[in-house]
Amino acid sequence: MATIGKDIQAAAQILADGQLVAIPTETVYGLGGNALNRASVLSIFETKNRPAFDPLIIHTDSLEKVGHFVTKFDGMAKALAEAFWPGPLTLLLPKRDIIPDIVTSGLDMVAVRIPDHALTLELLGTLDFPLAAPSANPFGYISPVSAAHVDAQLGDKIAYILDGGECNVGIESTIVGFVEDVPTIYRLGGLAVEDIEAVVGKANVLPHSTSNPQAPGMLKSHYAPRKPFFIKSADELLHAPADVAVLFFTKPEALSTNITRVLSDTGDVREAAHNLFTYLRELDTSDASEIWAEYTPVNGLGVAINDRLKRAAAL
Ligand code: TXA
Ligand code: MG
Repeated sequence: MATIGKDIQAAAQILADGQLVAIPTETVYGLGGNALNRASVLSIFETKNRPAFDPLIIHTDSLEKVGHFVTKFDGMAKALAEAFWPGPLTLLLPKRDIIPDIVTSGLDMVAVRIPDHALTLELLGTLDFPLAAPSANPFGYISPVSAAHVDAQLGDKIAYILDGGECNVGIESTIVGFVEDVPTIYRLGGLAVEDIEAVVGKANVLPHSTSNPQAPGMLKSHYAPRKPFFIKSADELLHAPADVAVLFFTKPEALSTNITRVLSDTGDVREAAHNLFTYLRELDTSDASEIWAEYTPVNGLGVAINDRLKRAAAL
């Protein structure tokens, strides 16, 4: 069973020994391992049951260190990094040979980010290697946003969970690459497209199936609860059968008698993102037979929330 604690030295030692540690970030918890050690990276894939064609993000704590892992870091990429790191942004940059091919599933680009979480930044500062860290959930399930979420699913497979409390942002980072110098969003996430465009101009948002460049369309179900999950209109939610669990965006006029969660009483998309995965887990572990949810408005993080709802419904 995993030890849950805040001991950075213990976590650093376990990682230096090649084992895995779950790390808190502002987005979701990551399953961290030494990105420069092939055996550690392989055990990340095995622990998550993740297919080898789905590449990992590496995490570090300074712009200077990023330069050790990539061959080119300037222009729009540098401008975004300076504007938003530490923060919920991942950049696709051309990798140096020091990054093993297993990290990038053989691609020439490596995904890099500096996460915004004090404990993890301190941990990264003590390490002489970057951490490869996918979300710390079994492949395809809802991402964890607390140490307890990690423990519930991977606790028997990892040595240590660094407990940094609840994740502030609550959904994964926004992944940005550059296709012929056009900023391109590979995955919608915790940094709004509007914020990115304010720094680098118009961005091209790829359809979600292409977030996995080597297997477009293969991952139609992602972030998925175990119960059947459907997207419905606000009116349908209010009239859901009694055994359906209901996820409202904002407080409805009348509350149904069903098992219910409201993502944000005031209709704030940031608060909704923060609550999304916790509420999905709660509804998924409830007695309900299925889950119905409604889309959020399409401003700010609402677009990224809807992307996750769509994937949960395998749309
Ligand atoms: O917020 C986050 O990004 C969290 C925390 C732990 O940092 N991490 C995370 O990792 O969500 P993961 O592995 O669950 O999702 C990483 C995504 C995958 O969809 C993968 O296909 C994409 O990043 N990715 C990684 N490297 C890539 C590359 N070289 N080209 C295109 N996509 C890449
Ligand atoms: Mg993930």
